[in-house]
Amino acid sequence: MEFSFLAFDRWIHFLSGITWIGLLYYFNFVQVPAMGAALADKDGPGPAAIGKYVAPRALLWFRWAALVTFFSGTALLGADTGKAFSLGLMEGSTAYHTYIGIGAWLGTIMLFNVWVLIWPNQKKILGMVEASPEQIAKAKTVALMASRTNTLLSIPLLMFMGAASHGMPI
Ligand code: HEM
Repeated sequence: MEFSFLAFDRWIHFLSGITWIGLLYYFNFVQVPAMGAALADKDGPGPAAIGKYVAPRALLWFRWAALVTFFSGTALLGADTGKAFSLGLMEGSTAYHTYIGIGAWLGTIMLFNVWVLIWPNQKKILGMVEASPEQIAKAKTVALMASRTNTLLSIPLLMFMGAASHGMPI
């Protein structure tokens, strides 16, 4: 047995990728509807415990997994980074670079959404930083739109990322 950085990094990329996108789907398909149901249920326990005990932990794993996915993915690209991010337009590129490049761009946009649009706004929503009721209302809209966008982008991202080595499914 011999250590392979590339294989190790690929494994880290898969682990962090499923952690990131798994939590993204948890937010969109479970937590957001659950918060809505808890708010609507006047006799129920309310959404406070989700906001206090669950959401901060989920967000912690979510944002750091996003960063690890990006860096492990970029490390996998290595010398192919330019060819991929130029979507295969550079000299000597192949279809692999176009496909992985589309996936890499989508992932990069999604990383931006996580760290610039979702996390700073979630801090206001969850009361981790001071914010007025108006600022919190705006933060909710921005964070939700960014989260929904990432959920949509994750679908073509996975298709192109897999297609680079294994072909397009359609
Ligand atoms: C954020 C930017 C990203 C970059 C730069 C990137 C880069 C890469 C690269 C270069 C590969 C090919 C590995 C190889 O040829 O051995 C790859 C594969 C893969 N990536 Fe990403 N990735 C990113 C985001 C993601 C995300 C968010 C996911 C979600 C789970 C993901 C899931 C995968 C999977 C499942 C494969 C395996 C595909 C295969 O076996 O052919 N990646 N990624």
